Amino acid sequence: MKRLLTLLCACCFAAASHAQSAYVPTPDNLRAREAFRNDRFGIFLHWGLYSMLATGEWTMTNKNLNYKEYAKLAGGFCPARFDAREWVRAIKASGAGYICFTTRHHEGFSMFDTAFSDYNIVDATPFGRDVLRELAEACREEGIGLHLYYSHIDWYREDCPRGRTGLGTGRPGTEVNWESYYAFMNNQLTELLTGYGPIRAVWFDGWWDQDQNPGFDWQLDEQYALVHRLQPACLIANNHHQTPFPGEDIQVFERDLPGENEAGLSGQAVGELPLETCQTMNGMWGYKITDQEYKPAPELIRYLVGAAGRDANLLLNIGPQPDGELPAAAVERLQEIGRWMAVYGPTVRGTRGGPIGPRPWGVTTQRDDRVYVHILDLQDRELFVPLTGAKVLRAVRYDDRTPVRFRQDDEGVLLRLGEVPDVTDYVVELTLRR
Ligand code: GLC
Repeated sequence: MKRLLTLLCACCFAAASHAQSAYVPTPDNLRAREAFRNDRFGIFLHWGLYSMLATGEWTMTNKNLNYKEYAKLAGGFCPARFDAREWVRAIKASGAGYICFTTRHHEGFSMFDTAFSDYNIVDATPFGRDVLRELAEACREEGIGLHLYYSHIDWYREDCPRGRTGLGTGRPGTEVNWESYYAFMNNQLTELLTGYGPIRAVWFDGWWDQDQNPGFDWQLDEQYALVHRLQPACLIANNHHQTPFPGEDIQVFERDLPGENEAGLSGQAVGELPLETCQTMNGMWGYKITDQEYKPAPELIRYLVGAAGRDANLLLNIGPQPDGELPAAAVERLQEIGRWMAVYGPTVRGTRGGPIGPRPWGVTTQRDDRVYVHILDLQDRELFVPLTGAKVLRAVRYDDRTPVRFRQDDEGVLLRLGEVPDVTDYVVELTLRR
C-alpha cells in the first residue's frame, strides 16, 4: 500500500514538474506582461445580478437564496443608464490602463452573450444587450486593456461540483457532473477569447472553494493551455491565494500589498511573475447600498504608490449600480486620482519597484536613471535614504522641479527637504549617474 502511495506521489510529482516545464510563455506573452506592469493601475468592475440586491456579490450564498428564485432577478435587470463609453472614459481619465470585468461571478449569471447557457444578460433580461461587447469596443477605442474575471465556482448550475460555498441554494445534489461543468467553462472561455478581440488577461477566482477537498482536480493545466492556445499573449491570473501554479503569468494578491498580510489571504511568498493587488474602494466588491465608507482619494493614491513601490499593480474595485451607473462616490475618486496622476503619473506608470524596499516613510520607484522617492509619512525636514552603489547627480521635487539639497556618502543619501512634507505623496526625483 505504502509503495503504491509512493509510486502515486512520484507520478503526481512527475506530472507536476512536467506541467511546469511545459509552459513557455511566447514573446508576445512576455511583452504583454511588461505592458501590464507598465500600467501599474487598473480598475476592477464587479457587476452582475447581485447589484440589484445591493448587498454585495456573495448574497446568494450568504442568505441561502434558492437558485430558481434568484434567477428571477434576471427578468427585472434593465440597467438603462449603462454607457460603456462613459465608464471607460471615466476610468481612463483616472490614469488607469485597464479594466477587469466580471464576465461570470460565483452567482453563475453570464454578463455576456453566451451560447452555452440562456442564463445570460442578452437572453434572460429585458435589457438584451451584450455589455461585454460594448465594453470591449469602448476599451478598444480608448486604448484601455481588457481583462476578464471568470469564476471557477457557480452557485446556480446543477452540474457544478460542490465545495464549501453555495450549498444552500437548493440545487439537487444528484446532477453534479464535473465533465459537463468543465466543458461548459472551457466553451465559455473559448467564446470570450474568440469573440471580443484581444483579451489581455483572464482572472480566475474560486479555486479555494475546494481547499478542504485536496483531492479535487480543477484540471487547470488543460484550461490554461486552452487560454494560451486561443490567445498566446493573454495573461493568466488566479486568485487562489497560493504561490503561482504552472501556466500562470501574473501573481495576484487580495486586499493586501505583496509582502503584507493584514486581511489574512496573502501569506504566500512573493514570486518572480508580475504582481497585482486587488483592493476595494469601499468595503465590498459588488454594489452595496449601505456601504458608503469609501476610502478617501489620498488613501487610495498612497495605496497605489505603495503597490508600485513593491513592483506591483493596483487593481482597484468599483461595484456598478443596478441602473448601470458607477456610484458617484467612486467617480469622484476616479477624478481625484486622475488629477493626481496627471501630475505624478510618470513616477508610477512605466516604473518598476525602486532600489530601496518599502520603509515606514514610503517607497521608491525607478525608471532608467531616475529614482522616485515617494515620501508618504514623514514628520521631519530631512530624510535619509539608504541608497548605495550609484552616484546621485541631482535631486529635485518632482512636481515643481525645485532643487532638493542633499548629501551622499557610502551609507546613502540625506535629503534636506527644508520642510515637513504635507502632501499626499511628496516625490523627490533623483537622477543617478549611469
Ligand atoms: C474573493 C471573493 C470574490 C471577489 C474576489 C475579488 O475571491 O470571493 O467575491 O470577486 O475576492 O478579489
